[in-house]
Amino acid sequence: MPITVRTDLKASALPANAIFSHHSPLVPLRGFKLISGIHSPEVVDQIQNFEIQDSDVFVITYPKSGTIWLQQILSLIEVKGDVTASNEQLNSERVPWIELLDSRKQFVSAPSPRICVSHLPYKFMPLGLKQKKGKVIYVARNPKDVLVSYFHFHKYANMLETPKDFDTFFEKFLEGNVFGNCWFEHVKSWCSHKDEMNFLYITYEEMIKDLRSVVEKITSFLARNLTSQQLNDVVEHSTFKNMKNNPQANYQQIPVILLNHQLGSFLRKGTVGDWKNYFTVAQNERFDKVYQQKMKDVSLSFIWDMNDLISP
Ligand code: A3P
Repeated sequence: MPITVRTDLKASALPANAIFSHHSPLVPLRGFKLISGIHSPEVVDQIQNFEIQDSDVFVITYPKSGTIWLQQILSLIEVKGDVTASNEQLNSERVPWIELLDSRKQFVSAPSPRICVSHLPYKFMPLGLKQKKGKVIYVARNPKDVLVSYFHFHKYANMLETPKDFDTFFEKFLEGNVFGNCWFEHVKSWCSHKDEMNFLYITYEEMIKDLRSVVEKITSFLARNLTSQQLNDVVEHSTFKNMKNNPQANYQQIPVILLNHQLGSFLRKGTVGDWKNYFTVAQNERFDKVYQQKMKDVSLSFIWDMNDLISP
């Protein structure tokens, strides 16, 4: 996550006024919240005017939904599974963030196909996407697991407020009082506009269940031709274990000013259903109620099978 942070960001490259305390505030922009010192409202506001090329690829996620995973997979697909080639750069350089101050420049000047990731909601995205220019891959994850992953992330991300405890963070997440705002609105904002765009929707859970099929789905959506062995290589180098051991893929090189590596890791657990270790029965019931209410106008077969999401 959020990360909305370049993994290679050097302290010297930070804006002069970047101060990452455990209490640095979120910065409001047109109903959204950005992270102070990492994002600039001016930069984010310019994204709408980006000139989109047909070959551009935008990976969109709510924080903690597998962004880093997609960065690894997409960059491997482009080099046909050759991990040596993909290891020449950090994954955040191979697939930069468009909302980050310096990463955005990397995206704009990158050779085609330009690939980027973003946590921004639909309303900030380049207008060209609506004319079916470029391609969008939206990755969603069960919001209960997102909440737990985000809780841990807040504990080790120096640019985010350290939560008092899980219960406090639970409330903040439901209120949308975090970077990324409300999970429900994020998914809805993108998915309700899917027909305007070249749009592929995948879930973290599908990737856990059958990564190879999802990689095939992505290659076919992007019209890339990979042999069966090359697909195997992409999958192999994108497993949790291999990414965790790969410094070019695991974000351990983000400087301590941003992430306290003693307190956590991007590749934390990588499982489905960790929320069951954290939610109380009451919290779970409450979450299910909010989910049902917020998502009532959304095609559930498209978003999730409710039975998979709601308590076993
Ligand atoms: P957990 O905290 O539940 O482990 P993001 O990149 O959007 O911040 O998402 C981070 C989450 O994706 C973390 O979840 C991380 O472990 C998980 N993740 C990243 N790469 C993964 C992989 N190869 N396999 C499974 N999960 C992965």
